[in-house]
Amino acid sequence: MKPETKKKVLLSGAKPSGELHIGNYLGAIKQWVALQDTHETYVPIVDLHALTEPQDPEKLREQIMTTAADYIALGLDPTKVTIFLQSAVPEHTQLMWILNTITSMGDLERMVVYKEKLAEGKQALAGLFTYPVLMAADILLYKPTVVPVGEDQRQHLELARELARKFNKRFGQTFPTPKAFHAETGKKILSLQDPKKKMSKSHGGMSYIAIADAPDKIRQKIKIAVTDSGSAIKFDPITKPAVSNLIVIYHLFSGTAIKDIEEKFKNSGYKKFKEVLAELVVAKLKPVQEKRHELLENKYALVAILNDGAEKARQKASETLKEVYEKVGLT
Ligand code: TYM
Repeated sequence: MKPETKKKVLLSGAKPSGELHIGNYLGAIKQWVALQDTHETYVPIVDLHALTEPQDPEKLREQIMTTAADYIALGLDPTKVTIFLQSAVPEHTQLMWILNTITSMGDLERMVVYKEKLAEGKQALAGLFTYPVLMAADILLYKPTVVPVGEDQRQHLELARELARKFNKRFGQTFPTPKAFHAETGKKILSLQDPKKKMSKSHGGMSYIAIADAPDKIRQKIKIAVTDSGSAIKFDPITKPAVSNLIVIYHLFSGTAIKDIEEKFKNSGYKKFKEVLAELVVAKLKPVQEKRHELLENKYALVAILNDGAEKARQKASETLKEVYEKVGLT
């Protein structure tokens, strides 16, 4: 009999702070789906992170459910992966406290996402400031080797690695240093309205395509997406960032190689290319939206999946926390 090889662990998550968009999918969730068969996969809906910005409680409750439905509709199989709410596993905030005690203020002050949020006019709340420590706790509790995230989370991941090293040095080997995993293309899908920014819910409704957007909304958003000077469909992120972004979206949804896309549309001009792209995105999201709708029709089943996931996650998380408490002298 072949000895059973232990699967590598994957952990990653998304905030239910609004609608998930194709940037979340192409930059992160698509990778979770691709790796779910070969990895022991933990994918929390990081609801405590959503609270770092003001949320309407009723809306938040709704967004948590739609995010869970999106995870599954986009291809995560709840019979294989552990989908759960971060808030249902108190070990996340418990480990965060321990990590807080070894995190330097300087490291948090350097966090670009925090500085960007302040520049956008967000209030300088302690929760927003210490958010990367909670993220490190989310990660380290499950001892993953791989954490597939978009480019914007790179620095947060680096902090998690740094905290793992610090903890191990002081208290003995406990955490493997987790590796970020970035999609080669797709790690930074850009805003449809401003290619200097990443696609994000906070940059206005026309700048992103939500997973749940109706077909006409998708067509409209792509139609009015900004383009670059000239009319060639050419992949050149430096001189043609907006069109290159649309080409990347086409590439990731269709699987067509970038040079074949350039060839296919070499005589088309922006208008035609955008029309074909819009139909592609509409067609790819249609089955996802149908599945999402079906899942949201039966919220009890969705809650059962989340409860089941939380129970599994707690088994792993409580083991790690126990080890940590022992090492730091709390037992
Ligand atoms: P969040 O909720 O903002 O985004 C979820 C995932 O989507 C990726 N992403 C993108 N990728 C490519 N292009 C884009 N325009 C784009 N926008 C978002 C993000 O990089 C992320 O991978 N702090 C995290 C959530 C989190 C987490 C964790 C992630 C909390 N704890 C532990 C991994 C492990 C966040 O705010 O992601």
